[in-house]
Order: sequence, then structure tokens, then C-alpha cells
Amino acid sequence: TMADHLRKYETLFTLTPQRMRMIVEAFKETLELGLQKPEQVVPMIPTFVFGWPSGKEKGDYLAVDLGGTNFRVCLVTLMGSGKFEITQTKYRLTEEQKHEDGQKLFDFCAESLKTFIDTNFGDEVEGGTGFKLKEGETLPLGFTFSYPCSQNKIDHGVLIRWTKGFGASNTEGKDVGEMFRKSLEKHNVPVTLTALINDTTGTLIASHYVNPSTKIAVIFGTGCNAAYMEHVKDIGKLKDMGINVGEVNGKEGEEMDMAINCEWGAFDSFEHEHLPRTKYDIIVDETSNKPGEQAFEKLISGRYLGEILRLIICELIDEGVLFLGQNTYKLENPYVFDTAFLSLMESDPTDELLMVIGIFSHFFAVETTLAERQFFRALAKLVSRRAARLSACGIAAIVSKMGYIDEGCSVGADGSLYNKYPGFADRIHEGLVDVFGEKGRNIITHHAEDGSGVGSAIIAAMTKIRKEAGI
Ligand code: BG6
Ligand code: GLC
Repeated sequence: TMADHLRKYETLFTLTPQRMRMIVEAFKETLELGLQKPEQVVPMIPTFVFGWPSGKEKGDYLAVDLGGTNFRVCLVTLMGSGKFEITQTKYRLTEEQKHEDGQKLFDFCAESLKTFIDTNFGDEVEGGTGFKLKEGETLPLGFTFSYPCSQNKIDHGVLIRWTKGFGASNTEGKDVGEMFRKSLEKHNVPVTLTALINDTTGTLIASHYVNPSTKIAVIFGTGCNAAYMEHVKDIGKLKDMGINVGEVNGKEGEEMDMAINCEWGAFDSFEHEHLPRTKYDIIVDETSNKPGEQAFEKLISGRYLGEILRLIICELIDEGVLFLGQNTYKLENPYVFDTAFLSLMESDPTDELLMVIGIFSHFFAVETTLAERQFFRALAKLVSRRAARLSACGIAAIVSKMGYIDEGCSVGADGSLYNKYPGFADRIHEGLVDVFGEKGRNIITHHAEDGSGVGSAIIAAMTKIRKEAGI
């Protein structure tokens, strides 16, 4: 029966508290290694964002966001005292754009930004946000580029590797800041690229701007990653990287804090020693455009959860357990089972699971029995619960490393999985209690302020203030 099948998957996808604590330990060691030595699997990237915002940052900033579900262009007006306004346009990138030449991709970003500026502040525009650019004037631009980039200053970054299925050519190993500047110049866009940031870093800073108890930020979206604020004196590898923070920031360098973009999605890549991968996870990995890489992310993020569930369903079709006599070809294409379906299945309020009927009949042209629908919903729960509990391990590793457990802290979280998946946050919180016991309740995630818009504006403002002060 379906219940017997379910038991098998329960065993495969359940993480015990004991196993979680082992993962946390390994994770902590990995974070530490990444801070001490350059070029580790989890690269623990220094971001050159020094310390928290004061909350008094002000002014108009443009932001371009590449790397989530949507490509966005925003104008953010910071009003000081933790308040802001935002105007934005969103675009969906085509699969083709994700894989064409990298410079072409940046050209598209620059063109969209140009159109955004022209339509919002062009000569013909009446009213609008109430300001016009003077001849020769440029707006400061923050570029949120949500892929691992190694940085040696805030407005440059070399792409280490594409993640999340992107694969544009001639980009890995190059300075994407420079590439984007080239595109901006080519299209005569009146901006100065002030900061290149990761979405997690932006989220960290934006969340802290409105909620100063924030110490960590996590993205649960197409990808999964975290950033937090580290003591400069504990980032041992800066010296090996030829970076003297004291020189960059005046004498007090060693006393400062700097945000670290962990790129934790890469945890356990290549070696696969620590994470409990099932055969479905291994298929997801091996059929991806980057086998071996982003091992942690592939168990957690929105890009992959639907695919994991689809592979289980396909296995049961092959075994003759599901959909006997029905044509199942629509289910056989990789990535057709969107993670949004898991979220819909779990939120179906009807006894008959009418939404689940709808998903399978409408999108995949197959009929389901009630027992099957209950089974699919239970599977969705297993897969997403494992994702949330693994994420809790990552959060726990940072919390434990930084000693935040007693006083507690807030974790700013964003991304479609966190925002839309029913119960995802609760499952993370349960996971934290499984790792830390009752004290786990001191760590609370909350929906973050728009990291790549507001966060990038605040970082651009912080950078401007530092530059003007000559530090
Ligand atoms: C957005 C954040 O809401 O979530 C972005 O503002 C982030 O910074 C994005 O990149 C990630 O989520 P998704 O689901 O779009 O990949
Ligand atoms: C991937 C990217 C990382 C980003 C995350 C969330 O893990 O490598 O840079 O922060 O997705 O968007």
C-alpha cells in the first residue's frame, strides 16, 4: 500500500537530532577553515562591508538585482531612521539569457537599467519621484549579483563559479564588476557602480537597518546561502590574500567587523562526507550542469525540491506502483515539477485534496486516488522538512561559532521558499530546538527587508560615507 511506501521514504528523509548535531559540528569546522585559508570549498567571502549601518543613511540609490527568480531594477530612497521608499521593475530572464555570453547578459542588465532611468526620470517624465539628473550627474548604483564572487574591494568581484543552473560563458574567473561597468559605459547609463554585493549580504544589512537584533541573514530561494558579521581579527586569511584592513580603514582595522558571505550552499561539495544524500539527491546532482558542486544547496533550495519529489514519483511509476495504464510522459521531463507544487499540496485545506487533483490532472494529465494524493502530500512534507532541518544546521553552526545562543538573535530570511512555503519557518525553528534544546528558541527567523534593493542602497550609502570621510 501507499503507507508502506511512505515508511521507506520516511526513513530516508528523516534527520534525527543526533545526526543534526554531527552536521553542525562539521559545518562549524568548515566555516572556520574558510575563514583561515583562501580558496576553500565553502569560501567564506569577505565582502568589504564593514560593520552595521547606523540607520541614518539617506539619499537616492539605484539597485540592480541579478540571481533570484526575477531580474530587478530599483530606485531606493533612504530617508534615515530606518525608513525607505522603493520603485521597481521586475523581469523574468529566459533560459537562453542564462546561458549566452556573459557580456551579453550584462548588456541586457545595463539596457534595462537605462530604460528604467529614462522612463522614471527622463525629460518627458512629469512628477514621478521629483528629481532630475543634472548634466554629467550620476546616481550611485549597487549591483546585487547573487553568485559566489571573491572580492578584494567593495566594487569588484571575480566570479568563482555559476550556481543555480546559470552557465553564461566567458564569465567564470572574470571580474563581473568590470564586465558590468563596460556594459554601463556602452549604453551610456548615468550611474557609478559603487558596490557589488551578494543577496545575503544585502539582506543582512537591510534587516539590521530595521531590526538591530539581526545578526545573520539567510536566503531560501532558488539558491540557499547565508551571511553574518565577523570580527576582522578572526578572518585569518586576509593576510594571505594580501589585504591589510588597517590600511584600507585606518588604524582601527583589526578592531572592526566585516560581513562574510559564507556561500554555504557549497558545504560538503565533492567529498560528500557529511550530508545524508539519497539516491534521488545523487541523480539531481549528477544530471545538473555542475555535478559535485553546491551539495548543501541541492538538498535545500527551491530550485531542487520539486525535482527530488519528481524523481521519487518517477521511480514509483517505473516500479508499477503509480499511474498504471496512464500516460505519464509529462512527468518524465526534468524540473517540470515545480517546488511551488509542493507548497500548494501542503497548503491544500480540503479533505479530498482538490488542489492536488488539480495539479496532477491539469499539469501532468494523470488521475490520482485519494490515497496517492495523501502520499504525495506526505512526501512533500518529508522533502521540505529535511530542507528546513538542514538549514537549521547551517544557522546553528554560525550561532554556535559566534556564541549567540545565550543572548539569542534574529535571523533575517528571504526568498520564495521561506516566504511562500507553508510551515517552512516553523520547521527551521523546530530544528533549532532539536540542535540546542530549549535555548534554540532564542534564535528566531523573520521575513527580511528586501536585501537586494534596500540592502544594496544602504551598502552603497555606507560606502559613500566612508569614501567621503576618507576611510
Ligand atoms: C528576494 C530578495 O526577495 O529573494 C533577493 O530580495 C533574493 O535579494 C531573492 O535574491 C531570492 O529568492 P528567489 O526565490 O527569488 O531565488
Ligand atoms: C546561490 C549563490 C549565492 C546566493 C544564493 C541565494 O547559493 O551561490 O551567492 O546567495 O544562491 O540566492
